[in-house]
Amino acid sequence: MKIAIMGAMPEELEPILKEVGSYKIVEYAGNKYYEAQYKGVDIVLAYSKIGKVFSTLTATTLIEHFGATKLLFSGVAGAISPELKVGDLIVATKLAQHDLDITAFGHPFGYVPEGAVYIESDEALRKIAQEVAADMQTPLKEGIIATGDQFVANEERKNWIGETFNADALEMEGASVGVVCDALDIPFCILRSISDAADMDASFSFDEFLETSALRSAEFIMKMVEKIEH
Ligand code: ADE
Repeated sequence: MKIAIMGAMPEELEPILKEVGSYKIVEYAGNKYYEAQYKGVDIVLAYSKIGKVFSTLTATTLIEHFGATKLLFSGVAGAISPELKVGDLIVATKLAQHDLDITAFGHPFGYVPEGAVYIESDEALRKIAQEVAADMQTPLKEGIIATGDQFVANEERKNWIGETFNADALEMEGASVGVVCDALDIPFCILRSISDAADMDASFSFDEFLETSALRSAEFIMKMVEKIEH
């Protein structure tokens, strides 16, 4: 077994690299990959850069080139659900691409023929996440995450995404990573800590809370690694 842990931004991966301590850096396809052992488990780490295209490339590379057999994503998200506040954790039950639109042909938002609006995450990994939450005495919300190539800083757009996809949080990589893992039959889990409310103050809130929220997600994901049977 080899566990891939990915983020989108350096701030999302750095706390994980720090916790792992020593690793080998391999450059591949225009990015750096970090191979290591953590508590007896083979792991491979990377941050993809922001957005669906880069995250698709990185997830595919982690699986096809580095041989990852499970994939965990750690990072930050904008809240849609009013229940979610800065620092809170959410694990995706399923994910959708909010900016995928061929509605002109009568299809629902997020759908293309031979695809699906929602990609389901792995139930066993979600259960492990709930066990970690119980151990850490940290609330963990399960919910739908919507992904798109947009930093959402607009109440109207955020509400539309919430209503259209019944989504609780939004970000820019989860669904594309999910599509890759689903196609390649790799169990995956998308964990996010809230950095902002995707409203007019989102960019300021994001800048202020990126590091602390990314750290919270990273700490949680490393506890999950310890619990995954190997
Ligand atoms: N990730 C964190 N906050 C976000 C936002 N407001 N829009 C898109 N991705 C995000």
